Amino acid sequence: MTSGQTNPTVCDYNDYDYRTQFWSKANRTYEHQSEVTMVRRLIQNWATQHTHICDAGCGFGRLIPAYENLFEQYHLVDYAASMLNQIDSRFTATSGYHRYQQSLYDITLPYPMDVIISIRTLHHLPDTERLLDRLYHQLSPNGILIMDIPNYYHIKQRLKRPFQKKLDRIKRSNQYYTYNTKKIIEIFKIKGFNIVCKRQMGLFRSHFLKKWVPPQWLMALDMVANWFFSQWDIGPSVYIVAKKCG
Ligand SMILES: C[S@@+](CC[C@H](N)C(=O)[O-])C[C@H]1O[C@@H](n2cnc3c(N)ncnc32)[C@H](O)[C@@H]1O
Repeated sequence: MTSGQTNPTVCDYNDYDYRTQFWSKANRTYEHQSEVTMVRRLIQNWATQHTHICDAGCGFGRLIPAYENLFEQYHLVDYAASMLNQIDSRFTATSGYHRYQQSLYDITLPYPMDVIISIRTLHHLPDTERLLDRLYHQLSPNGILIMDIPNYYHIKQRLKRPFQKKLDRIKRSNQYYTYNTKKIIEIFKIKGFNIVCKRQMGLFRSHFLKKWVPPQWLMALDMVANWFFSQWDIGPSVYIVAKKCG
């Protein structure tokens, strides 16, 4: 999972209408609402300071409601200019929102961050070591990183292929990867993070359930499942709260 290469390939969203194709046209209310709710809850539970937050790989700003009004300054980073341009015009520098067109592999921010969130980005950034190194250096001491790990070995996969040999990283398509969560967590620790919280997300992500069960109910089921299984890496997406040591 380490490449050490100078310029890793970046997954370019400039020609992709992510907002319409992936969100508006698909039935993903459950995923969206549960992610906004979870990120907000994790920030409220774990962030000790609330001056600077960075949304690393912010896309069109879908997750702004998860941290809006909780901080003084908001730093929105994405590689695709087309994504940054779609962020609502209410969120300007005068209201504390700053945009940066950068690759996360080289992310450089003007201040140490109290919190960095990076959601649905790791699946495009296979050089995990380089990414975590960069994010670590942008955090203040005791700052927290909230990130989701696209987990290949989720419950359905384990039931389908119980004796499958576990790889560290699985290439699903050209620029889309899923991972062995245990391995990614090891990299977090090697890079100087303590894992302080883990949550299983998207446990009820099925076309059938989403068609018949309201998103609020699915979110309630997620919460109950997490009381029992939060440490088990059974979700298709595993949320990590990692604290910078020292
Ligand atoms: C699946 S979208 C997720 C966007 C947002 N975090 C969300 O949850 O709605 C992935 C985003 O990561 C950005 N991205 C991919 N690779 C990147 C890189 N190396 N540096 C910065 N942004 C990157 C894409 O431009 C895109 O906006």
